[in-house]
Formats: sequence, structure tokens, C-alpha cells
Amino acid sequence: MDRRHFLTLGGLAAMAAARAAGTSPGTGPMLLRRIPSSGELLPAIGLGTSGPFEVAKSDSARAPLLEVLQGFFDGGATLIDTSPMYSTAEEVLGDLLTPEQQAKVFMATKVWTPGSGGAAGQKGVEQMQRSMSLLRHQRIELMQVHNLVDLDAHLKTLRRWKEEGRIRYLGVTHYTTSSYPDLMAIIQREKLDFVQFNYSVRTREAEKRLLPLCAHKGVAVIINRAFEDGNLFAQVRGKDLPAWAADFGAKSWAQVFLKFVLANPAVTCVIPATGKLRNLVDNLGAGSGPLPDAKHREKIIAAVG
Ligand SMILES: NC(=O)c1ccc[n+]([C@@H]2O[C@H](COP(=O)([O-])OP(=O)(O)OC[C@H]3O[C@@H](n4cnc5c(N)ncnc54)[C@H](OP(=O)(O)O)[C@@H]3O)[C@@H](O)[C@H]2O)c1
Repeated sequence: MDRRHFLTLGGLAAMAAARAAGTSPGTGPMLLRRIPSSGELLPAIGLGTSGPFEVAKSDSARAPLLEVLQGFFDGGATLIDTSPMYSTAEEVLGDLLTPEQQAKVFMATKVWTPGSGGAAGQKGVEQMQRSMSLLRHQRIELMQVHNLVDLDAHLKTLRRWKEEGRIRYLGVTHYTTSSYPDLMAIIQREKLDFVQFNYSVRTREAEKRLLPLCAHKGVAVIINRAFEDGNLFAQVRGKDLPAWAADFGAKSWAQVFLKFVLANPAVTCVIPATGKLRNLVDNLGAGSGPLPDAKHREKIIAAVG
């Protein structure tokens, strides 16, 4: 089966599944949040690629991802987060994204050079050039220093690349609460466009100081692990969705979890990872309609335990 045929089937399947799920990736306005450093608007639901996009070259492994990408853009989303750390994910994206999707995507990848010592700067340049080639995306929207590895060397390059127009925004990422003191010190010290970190209904530490600091300093926030790598679903297994979830338009636990995160106004975009169209459509559904207020957020916390 050729690529064009795959895409056609993927598009049809996306629409069919969306209709079956009662939500359409093509209808309902997606919540947009502003990137403070530029004023550019960004759709609030993005896509993570760690895990689901780390597949081999086979058609059978890639066909569901074509559907996910089709549904993602049909639903008005644009930000895809990836990294050279995620084995084949960058290559898979480069192979699967159509020219139309390449024109729409807000591509967020990373530089990650553990153990490179004094050669970190050069290794970073080579790695970022490779990422651009694999992604077939010559101007990266957001380049992030992954897990703060070799931060100073890479920030220097990223500032130069931004000036030269090779990337549009720069940022840093981490995924643990123990990194927050470092993240906060960096936000205080450096001029960043974006910071990416973990936040979920069960791990709310970021609410205390990190999220308010990002808002105060005008740094856009990407949230990873909103489902705690899927573990949050175990917390609610067998529990019916409470009737009050309808008050803020949530039709599933996934939408409750994502709307909880988006209810914090400092959050710019949340990037749930999935390789399944059905789950993608579910996640996109959290990007429209109302968000939980303070009382509902308390109820969500109590329900998840
Ligand atoms: N240091 C860093 O920079 C860093 C660290 C961690 C993560 N990240 C980024 O953040 C992204 C998200 O984090 P994550 O991948 O750790 O975990 P996550 O988004 O919290 O959870 C992903 C898991 O949730 C499942 N899932 C997704 N949507 C679902 C739905 N609607 N219903 C039920 N299950 C659903 C997925 O399985 P299915 O595939 O079966 O849907 C997958 O197993 C990563 O992919 C990566 O891009 C960055």
C-alpha cells in the first residue's frame, strides 16, 4: 500500500471514529493560549511522542499513527513534542507528516547530549541538524534543552540559532518535581520562551511556585505526563465518571485530567502521548468547552484520591 492510499484511509477512519465517539476533530473551537514572548496563539492540546511514536518502519506499526496525525490536525491542534531521546520518533514523524501537515505543525523537539563533556556544544549542533533532517523540518518552532543536560552549552547555541532564524523559540524541559528548584533558578536567570515540566491532578507541586513564576516571568508552559504515563487511569478504574464532570463538558476521565491541567491559566499547552486515534479524539475533546472552576478542581482531586 502506498503512502497516499494510507493517508486516504487514515482520514476516513479519523472521521468515522470521531463521529462514533460523539466528538469531531473537525468541529468545535479548540482553546488557544498565547505564547507570552511573542503573542502568538497556540492550540492548548498538543501531542507527545515518547512511546507511541517509537515504532519500526513497518506499515502495520505506522498505519495507526497516520490516523492519529490526520485526526490531530483535523482537530485544530498543532504542537507535537518529540526528542532524539525517543529512538525512532523523529524519523517516524518525518516519514509520516504530509507537506500540508508540515506547514501547520508547531514542531517542538529537543537537544539531549548526556556524557558529551567539553564537546557538548558541537555534539548539540550535530544532533539538532540530524533532528531537522529526520523530521524533514528545516525551521524548528521550538528547540528545548532536554532534562537540562549540558544546559549552558546548548542555551548559547539556541540563542544564536534563534537570532539566525533557524528556530523560532527556545526552552528547557524536565519531568520530575525534584527538578523544580533548578527550573525556577533557570527561569529567574535566563530569558526563555518555553518551559516544559510535569503536572497532573495527582502531582500538583507545580501549582505552588513554579506555575506562578512562569506566569510572572512571561514564560509559556508545556505540561508533560498529564496522565502520569497512563497510570492515572488505574486510579479511576471501575469508577463511573461523576455527573458533575458534565458541568465543565468532560465526557471521559481523560478529559477530566486534561481539563484539570488546562484550568491553570499559566499552562499554555498539554501534550498527552497516544498512538491510538480513539484516545487522540478523546484528548482533543478536552480542548473545547468550559474548564473546571476551583470547586470542581477540588472534586476532581477527591475523586482521584
Ligand atoms: N523530559 C522531558 O522532556 C519529557 C519527559 C516526559 C514526557 N515528555 C513529553 O510528554 C509527553 C507525554 O508524557 P508521557 O508520554 O510520559 O505520558 P502521558 O501523556 O501522561 O501518558 C501517556 C499514556 O496515556 C495513554 N493515553 C493517552 N490518551 C489516553 C486516553 N484518552 N485514554 C486512555 N489512555 C490514554 C497512552 O496510551 P495509548 O498510546 O494506548 O493511548 C500512554 O500510555 C511525552 O510523550 C513526551 O513527548 C517529555
